[in-house]
Amino acid sequence: MASMNTANKSTRFFPSHPHHSATFCTRIHQIAALALVVATFFLTRLFDHSLGPCSSPHFNSFADVNRQYDGVLRFGDSVGWPDRGYGTHLNLKIYVYDENEIEGLKLLLYGREGKISPEACIKGQWGTQVKIHRLLLQSRYRTRKKEEADLFFVPTSVKCVRMMGGLSDKEINQTYVKVLGQMPYFRLSGGRNHIFVFPSGAGAHLFKSWATYLNRSIILTPEGDHTDKRDTSAFNTWKDIIIPGNVDDGMTANGARLVDPFPISKRKYLANFLGRAQGKVGRLQLIELAKQFPDKLESPELKLSGPDKLGRAEYFKHLQNAKFCLSPRGESSWTLRFYESFFVECVPVILSDQVELPFQSIVDYRQISIKWPSTRIGPELLDYLESIPDNDIEDMIAQGRKVRCLWVYAPESELCSAFTGIMWELRKKVRQFHQSTETFWLHNGSIVNRDLVEFSKWKPPLPLP
Ligand SMILES: *[C@@H]1O[C@H](CO)[C@@H](O)[C@H](O)[C@H]1NC(C)=O
Ligand SMILES: *[C@@H]1O[C@H](CO)[C@@H](O)[C@H](O)[C@H]1NC(C)=O
Ligand SMILES: *[C@@H]1O[C@H](CO)[C@@H](O)[C@H](O)[C@H]1NC(C)=O
Repeated sequence: MASMNTANKSTRFFPSHPHHSATFCTRIHQIAALALVVATFFLTRLFDHSLGPCSSPHFNSFADVNRQYDGVLRFGDSVGWPDRGYGTHLNLKIYVYDENEIEGLKLLLYGREGKISPEACIKGQWGTQVKIHRLLLQSRYRTRKKEEADLFFVPTSVKCVRMMGGLSDKEINQTYVKVLGQMPYFRLSGGRNHIFVFPSGAGAHLFKSWATYLNRSIILTPEGDHTDKRDTSAFNTWKDIIIPGNVDDGMTANGARLVDPFPISKRKYLANFLGRAQGKVGRLQLIELAKQFPDKLESPELKLSGPDKLGRAEYFKHLQNAKFCLSPRGESSWTLRFYESFFVECVPVILSDQVELPFQSIVDYRQISIKWPSTRIGPELLDYLESIPDNDIEDMIAQGRKVRCLWVYAPESELCSAFTGIMWELRKKVRQFHQSTETFWLHNGSIVNRDLVEFSKWKPPLPLP
């Protein structure tokens, strides 16, 4: 009976399947029919599993996604995470180190005089260092028990603290080393389950000796490559996670926006580049190109810093006055402009060959952006952009509108946000077991160090790699 049910059910998926007549039922037919029933049974179960109701509230919220059964996730009316490889259910326990628990952590958060305020640090393109910390403190994924934690978060605001003169490079380096030496769990895993945020182009280079201490840890950074002034990149595509830059809250918040997008047919320019040259080849070429083709490419001298700094609204008004927003490489490969484009609704054109983009397990960047070789910046680029019909541009902008929630550091209650995206990426990093070159274990499950001292008795300062 059960197999009959399954066979009936299978007509949902194979409606054109012909009926065998009993009169011609040879042994071969019987075997074939049995094989078909077995195969459809498993297929049906597989399909039911993918389509059926799921207990996870997260998954339900992304249920509109178009899945194709080759395992590829396509854009539907929403975005979603594939269950392939890491489950449909997001369960994660993250321990957040407390500033009072580890000596030195306060220095990395507030500077040597303790005066750098999180309120100041949460603004601007590097605000993610504060935002992610705050979101984690309130998160349902937070645990207060180290023993049950999958991952450990080390909060710091070093980018902001350094910018505001709160600590020198040397102090940052020494303080990090001191902080890490007080964390037995860091020692246990060699840092493999510890998370650090480095929100700027410098990435983990903000901590000079990162390569010695953090080269096994999980680094959250918008920066996939910063090799302009160094020969190494601190980013590792398999261990680290690219996070979106922090777009101005005035553009990402629901309700009143700083500026509202307007129809692309009304935009004055084909493309624009808003930013400083910084002596970079690609940027200088764009500025030259804008002089050659002032009607097509806008590249105004904008004061992006200093006393006559352009207002936020004015900046976004400029940015939205073109169909395409060019995002060339600067000191490093990522630029905030890429993310901002989605909120003013221009199509971002990436001119930064080494760029790494966030959430690639679910976003197909071909549908929302263009990446053009930085070695071919010139009239050819403008001709190409001009050849793209407005309809296609509208389509890309519409797709971008669907995914841009992933660039917003919204509260956890929002179903689609940068934070949720980061949690899903972190989920992929969770390991059941942790070890390092200096971690050993015995027949009874005791974890010991090289001197056979039990883990519970490891006392700071712990020797570091
Ligand atoms: C960082 O600090 C550690 C510990 O004090 C020291 O051994 C290391 O040389 C420092 N790194 C740099 C680049 O100064
Ligand atoms: C990572 O750290 C280990 C131990 O100090 C070192 O041998 C290795 O060279 C480091 N890797 C990188 C990429 O710096
Ligand atoms: C495990 O075995 C070691 C060595 O015999 C012993 O010192 C330790 O106390 C044991 N641990 C537990 C949890 O029983």
